[in-house]
Amino acid sequence: MGVVLERVNQCLACVREKTDFVPRVALILGSGLGELAEQIEIVKSIDYSEIDGFPQSTVAGHKGRFVFGYIEKTPVVIMQGRVHYYEGYSMEEVVLPIRLMRAMGATTLFLTNAAGGMGNGFQCGDLMLITDHIACFVPNPLLGKNEDELGTRFPDMSEVYDKDLQEVILKASSELDITMKEGVYLQLTGPSYETPAEIRMCKMLGASAVGMSTVVEAIVANHMKMKICGISFISNLAAGINETPLCHEEVKAAADAVAPKFQALVKRAISMM
Ligand code: HPA
Repeated sequence: MGVVLERVNQCLACVREKTDFVPRVALILGSGLGELAEQIEIVKSIDYSEIDGFPQSTVAGHKGRFVFGYIEKTPVVIMQGRVHYYEGYSMEEVVLPIRLMRAMGATTLFLTNAAGGMGNGFQCGDLMLITDHIACFVPNPLLGKNEDELGTRFPDMSEVYDKDLQEVILKASSELDITMKEGVYLQLTGPSYETPAEIRMCKMLGASAVGMSTVVEAIVANHMKMKICGISFISNLAAGINETPLCHEEVKAAADAVAPKFQALVKRAISMM
């Protein structure tokens, strides 16, 4: 067995000492959206610090725990707080939680994040269905020896975000009368926000939203053949488009404002998956 899978299995053994819950959907809650985890029928929660070998989140406003429970009849595992590359972890550690949730049994991954909008039809407070991503500004999480038990050496990336799941999300948003935009998400490492020139570059490359997570998680999930969907919440307009300097507090305040709508949507969509 390869070293990555060995570490995943060590974490899994630790989780299995605490719960035998088998999730079908894994949900990652982005900045400011973590409260959703408290609104479901919780069966068990496990702090990341209770799991040997698991990286710890260090960002203010991010809780670090797995919440296991049900959204309607769907068994879910929710990550309340994710692990970011800018915190100083290796890319292998950043994506370990995804591999762990797959090992727990999850076959669908639902990604959420707060992102900067780039003005091309995207406003603060908008929700954006992620239809594709741009990964080439961050180290690929599959670099290094391939562990064939996890997936193939050269995984196809032509349809990372599952079309059927996109339909489900669009249906849920229309039922709830929530406007859902669609676009491409581009991940940068952070932690500094972008310069106006970098944002002009991102726009030219075809991105609609920019952030510091999600894409590398989608890559390893796709490697393991999980079904993936994602929603970005546009928490601010990106540098140069926004007139004021960016700050993490602004992102969190915007997330608080959109949280009820966002939570209703995610719950409805998952209950339909
Ligand atoms: N840039 C990068 N990451 C972000 C932003 C942004 O403007 N907003 C929320 N996350």
